[in-house]
Amino acid sequence: MSYPYQIKSYDEYKEAYQKSIDDPEAFWGDIAEHFRWHKKWDKVLNWNFKEPKIEWFAGGKLNITENCLDRHLEKLADKPAIIWEPNNPEERTRIVTYERLHKRVCQFAQVLKNNGVKKGDRVCIYMGMVPELAYATLACARIGAIHSVIFGGFSAQSIADRLEDAQAEFIVTCDGAYRGGKDIPLKSVIDDALIGNKTVKRVIVYTRTRTPVSMIKGRDVWWEDEMQAVTEGAEALKSDGFGEVEVMDAEDPLFILYTSGSTGKPKGVVHTVGGYMVWTNYSFVNVFNYQPGQIHFCTADIGWITGHSYIIYGPLSAGATSVMFEGVPTWPDAGRFWDIIDKYKIDILYTAPTAIRSLMGFGLDPLKGKDLSSLKVLGTVGEPINEEAWHWYDEHIGKKKCPIVDTWWQTETGGVLISNLAGVTPAKPSWATLPLPGVQPILVDENGKEVTEKDEEGNYKGNLCIKAPWPGILRTTYGDHERCRTNYFATYENLYFTGDGALKNDDGFYRITGRVDDVLNVSGHRIGTAEVENAINMHAGVVESAVVGYPHDIKGQGIYAYVIFNGRHFDDELTRKDILATVSRIIGPIAKPDKIQFVSGLPKTRSGKIMRRILRKVAEGETDKLGDTSTLLDPGVVDEIVKGKL
Ligand code: WTA
Repeated sequence: MSYPYQIKSYDEYKEAYQKSIDDPEAFWGDIAEHFRWHKKWDKVLNWNFKEPKIEWFAGGKLNITENCLDRHLEKLADKPAIIWEPNNPEERTRIVTYERLHKRVCQFAQVLKNNGVKKGDRVCIYMGMVPELAYATLACARIGAIHSVIFGGFSAQSIADRLEDAQAEFIVTCDGAYRGGKDIPLKSVIDDALIGNKTVKRVIVYTRTRTPVSMIKGRDVWWEDEMQAVTEGAEALKSDGFGEVEVMDAEDPLFILYTSGSTGKPKGVVHTVGGYMVWTNYSFVNVFNYQPGQIHFCTADIGWITGHSYIIYGPLSAGATSVMFEGVPTWPDAGRFWDIIDKYKIDILYTAPTAIRSLMGFGLDPLKGKDLSSLKVLGTVGEPINEEAWHWYDEHIGKKKCPIVDTWWQTETGGVLISNLAGVTPAKPSWATLPLPGVQPILVDENGKEVTEKDEEGNYKGNLCIKAPWPGILRTTYGDHERCRTNYFATYENLYFTGDGALKNDDGFYRITGRVDDVLNVSGHRIGTAEVENAINMHAGVVESAVVGYPHDIKGQGIYAYVIFNGRHFDDELTRKDILATVSRIIGPIAKPDKIQFVSGLPKTRSGKIMRRILRKVAEGETDKLGDTSTLLDPGVVDEIVKGKL
């Protein structure tokens, strides 16, 4: 595989960037030529941010899995597409070549068809990090079903809400999943999620942990039985349409991925086939400066966008070798990532600042005797990286010879939007730096006016928006286009609003400072404060609650909850645990508050709005900087809150 559109120097970057702005259609049309299409597009781009309506490669016909699999078979059939590292280092590694992956995806696509899945149907995937998760995802894409992968840390209630929102008819899951020292009973969570569900017709269960599971007649079937029925080789090839792809419109939906916003209910972000393919491929090849034959290790879970774009679609569309790791960085010990890098001679490591900070905490011992000399490029994603973590990563992991790419992007953007290009454009610790070609950032003030005055430190500072579409931008939120408009395109006219604040310096480099809306970023996981409040309020004794973030050494942000409680009260500790158990039930363990402070009232304005600014300051420990509290309904509440701070 070669990548004629790979940028090789800073000058080439500048040239590509300029061209992408001057003539986006010519620029992206040329790049799209390098993919396999059944029919070329009629028009590269149609758009307006008012509705919004965004179409890339309209009229084009393709299947993304042909671009991820079939087109590599001639040259890369025997090359590993996926290297799978099990949770337990003593278990056997699985190496899935492109040929094998193609076969498995075709087989499972047939299984889906045999079970009644058709183009456009929603298939929910709730599995651990096993290769079968990739097979299931790609098999959906092959037959045009819309996958909706749900992270294993979400509760039955969260899954039920997502199944309902997507009107999903099919589920693919595992009996259980291994994660570090834990066994997670996935099928049992699915069973709970299905109580009262009216849409799901079939659940396909892959055996991983072989924990006992209930199997309901007429609804639940085993992955293994179904795969066996679709045997490899001649037999299967004879069956009707085996291995054939569904030819999709470029703008047909590829997947839904739920993510948190500032309102209580997660949104189903929708990406479509053509633009997402081009964007994940282009950004993968350029940001990481991927060279054929290199081994790419993205440590994310496929339940998040990073796993979708940089374990599956980006690397596979580029014919790369992608490592998939089932476990966690600290099990059986904190040297696990370094063992994996040593074992497979990994070239590119892409992880989150929270993982780096947590591993830093174990000192340098876990690195002893681990050969990391294969590493060429390091990457981070998901939250701002502090300088200390950046330098530790640079010194101890990259040995000061690996460029670090600080990649800023979002579920909604499909792939990286702002980042240095490894070894090609300059890096600056804790700065994401420059936009990729096709990306036009702008910093605006509260009124949507471009920020033109510098702050005391000589930077422009404002809310980060993007002026025009790039191929990977979200197209809608599932089942509710108006929600997509109000969330992203209505805050500022004719701009996509990211929800992030940023700085820009004289070199045009961007530094992302974090969310400016009510979204938290806890260990790189996006969680809405309103969502957590709703979950806390579900506890029978809770009258009202308010949730804010506060700086946390390892997680980046921690969750701080102020709770008015008038239920039966044993002692604070027990009541806290009850509330945590409630949040785990409603959202999942990832949303459990780190701190719960019981209060008798919340600071509210006369119109009844909670003044979060004050709560945030208290949680951050900046009680001397509360600002004006005179507009509060009851200023006395603040003193009590400050006194009771945890
Ligand atoms: C934050 C993850 C600073 C940001 C790909 C964004 C970052 C949110 C960075 C999206 C970065 C992501 N530097 N902040 N390099 N990357 N973020 O949807 O606040 O899970 O809005 O997508 O993560 O989170 P999401």
